[in-house]
Amino acid sequence: MRVQKGIDLSRFILEEERRYPLASGTLSRILISIENATKIISSHIRKAGLVDVLGKVGRINVQGEEVQKLDELANNWLVEHLASTGDFFAVASEEMEKAFFPANGSDGKYVISLDPLDGSSNVDVNISVGTIFSIHKRISDDDASFLQEGRKQVAAGYVIYGSSTMLVYSTGNGVNGFTLDPAVGSFILSHPNIKLPERGKIYAFNESNYKRWSNGIRRYVDTVKEKGYTLRYVASMIADVHRTLLKGGIFAYPADNVNKNGKIRILYEANPLGFLIEQAGGIASNGNSSILDVKPESLHQRTPIFMGSKADMEELLAILKEG
Ligand code: AHG
Ligand code: MN
Ligand code: MN
Repeated sequence: MRVQKGIDLSRFILEEERRYPLASGTLSRILISIENATKIISSHIRKAGLVDVLGKVGRINVQGEEVQKLDELANNWLVEHLASTGDFFAVASEEMEKAFFPANGSDGKYVISLDPLDGSSNVDVNISVGTIFSIHKRISDDDASFLQEGRKQVAAGYVIYGSSTMLVYSTGNGVNGFTLDPAVGSFILSHPNIKLPERGKIYAFNESNYKRWSNGIRRYVDTVKEKGYTLRYVASMIADVHRTLLKGGIFAYPADNVNKNGKIRILYEANPLGFLIEQAGGIASNGNSSILDVKPESLHQRTPIFMGSKADMEELLAILKEG
């Protein structure tokens, strides 16, 4: 397919589908539903502060984290909007303890994993947040469909509600980014065929955890500082990974002696963003193997994560190997 700058997302999705003459159109309809739901979320986030969507709900979620009002709203909008289509079998979300199997989806061929609002603790202070999605083929009638390797994702992507709203996604044929034109209400292809720079000059680690890290992680961070790398850390993974995709360098959330498996969730964050990083020519790893080759054991499982430019990641993995 000839990538045409300026094409709108819905048409792009349909043109991609034409590469597969046997496609039923279901995946395209799911992607278009995600596009529509995230436009609504974007419009609400743009008004945060004017309407009553900021602050906490007063409840702790299954992750043990404070639920923000926008976490709940984004989750409900996405799940309700998607469920009304009847196009998928089940949805799992960072904000829901169990997967949801909509009554009208019993014939659905796909399952969807969602981080409805990533970086939500930043929303009250007007910093970029995002929605992350991951789609697998249904292989069973239970949670096993969600617990497939990340490499088996048929599509993954995110929407970043930043200084502009962008949707970035891949169906395994490279990564394309679309910017929402709020006047027209359409996502327009603005970043065709995104490729990570081979090497960057940025490291994104929460360095306040330095004392809790293994020697290898500390040594890597010491090394890049000596080389003159700069630290950028938003604490919205979506923003840190979006910057990494465009500018290169490394985003990491390692394990530490308090968070033995790190903090990032494999289904909702590490797999979809790792898929995009690898599709754009980078490397995404848990420190031992590609994150996309790890078979998750439970919906809300966490994993140490390192992702970014190929040359930077190879150096990091070599240092970690030394121990
Ligand atoms: P979420 O808002 O979906 O719970 O995710 C927050 C995550 C991730 O986006 C970010 O990279 C990380 O938490 C930041 O954690 P620290 O504040 O510990 O650095
Ligand atoms: Mn998140
Ligand atoms: Mn979240």
